[in-house]
Amino acid sequence: NEGALWGGRFAGGPADALAALSKSTHFDWRLARYDIAGSRAHARVLHKAGLLDDGELEGLLAALDALGADVSSGAYVAAETDEDVHGSLERGLIERAGAQLGGKLRAGRSRNDQIAALGRMFLRDHARLTARGVLATVDALVAQAEQHPLVAMPGRTHLQHAQPVLLSHHLLAHAWALLRDVQRLADWDKRAAVSPYGSGALAGSSLGLDPAGVAEELGFDSAVWNSIVGTASRDVFAEFAWVAAMIGVDLSRISEEVILWATKEFSFVTLDDAYSTGSSIMPQKKNPDVAELARGKAGWLIGDLTGLLATLKGLPLAYNRDLQEDKEPVFDAADTLELLLPAVSGMIATLVFNTERLESLAPQGFALATDIAEWLVREGVPFREAHELSGAAVKLAESRGVELWDLSDEDYAGISAHLTPDVRSVLSVEGSLSSRSSQGGTAPSAVAAQLAALKEQLAAA
Ligand code: ARG
Repeated sequence: NEGALWGGRFAGGPADALAALSKSTHFDWRLARYDIAGSRAHARVLHKAGLLDDGELEGLLAALDALGADVSSGAYVAAETDEDVHGSLERGLIERAGAQLGGKLRAGRSRNDQIAALGRMFLRDHARLTARGVLATVDALVAQAEQHPLVAMPGRTHLQHAQPVLLSHHLLAHAWALLRDVQRLADWDKRAAVSPYGSGALAGSSLGLDPAGVAEELGFDSAVWNSIVGTASRDVFAEFAWVAAMIGVDLSRISEEVILWATKEFSFVTLDDAYSTGSSIMPQKKNPDVAELARGKAGWLIGDLTGLLATLKGLPLAYNRDLQEDKEPVFDAADTLELLLPAVSGMIATLVFNTERLESLAPQGFALATDIAEWLVREGVPFREAHELSGAAVKLAESRGVELWDLSDEDYAGISAHLTPDVRSVLSVEGSLSSRSSQGGTAPSAVAAQLAALKEQLAAA
């Protein structure tokens, strides 16, 4: 059992079944460059603590450089007998620096503090990539909103026509949700920027190391104040998985709408050829696969989060080997989003809206009934009564198979003396929209203010 990091107290090597079960190089190898960066920092603190002389430090750093180059070029890869990335890289270091020198680096550190630190380093890099992808999606939504500043569409609740809204208002609603996800990633980074390196196996080190120095060299803001939590906690991983799942859910909700909007029945949008697929049998088909895959992959992202939480829930302090299972869910979450986001942002950027249809459907389905009720309120009628009177107008129009604006002045007067011909001022989409002008409303003026506020936050994100 030559390559193993332990063995002194064992009579023989592990059973093949255990070795196979234990192995993680097939997924943790992507942490190799972070492992080597950690080793360089660790060599420096060992030197500072007087445990390596100048020549030894130089020798180790040179060997780590050579190993790093071989890992990047693919000349050095994990061997079948290597258990994990840490053990494999120690083997590679010893091959390059000799057993005498290479064997010194493990002093004062454990794979337990290493893996906790490397995972954070990996996730911090990938959180930045993810944020960039989400921002590109926000940009695509904003660009579409800016191209359609005054187009009305049917706003819905329960998927039923509710009140007219601006298409730009609807698109920006998705943009705000995604912008919050970007802000969440930035806020998460404050907690991820704390280094567990130096926690050792669980209790810290007796060798006079400098965890804060290592943290700084590795780009962290600070080092943990508790070595047990440093090695045993994975809440930072779980929080990343939660934000990733939330992004997945936000993309899935946009996608569900695109799928509906692209149907013959809705006909709100046409998908660009570059972002749609055909059918192997039905020549006419143009399918919204990007949106469907986004909706489908949201399921994986939720699974990554719930799987990780389930792994964590029964663990006593400090490190337990269960924690080796922390990596695949968060790697999958990062990979999934990095694959998905460019496709979704491209799909959104190239959507062509059928603005005439959106405009003509906007007031249909009695979507102006609330406007009648609110007009009555402005005339001094209590809302409870106003709601009744507007409802009576809907009932009458529905029984005749017409819309609210088709009722005559006499029809309205017959319902209530309050319903004077002036009510017609709100029986248009334009009137309805422009009346909703307070902050956050769908009036063109309010949406212009909203866009400016969103852009301000975007610039700071
Ligand atoms: N490969 C392990 C992990 O991913 C780190 C090794 C810790 N192993 C141990 N026996 N203490 O968590």
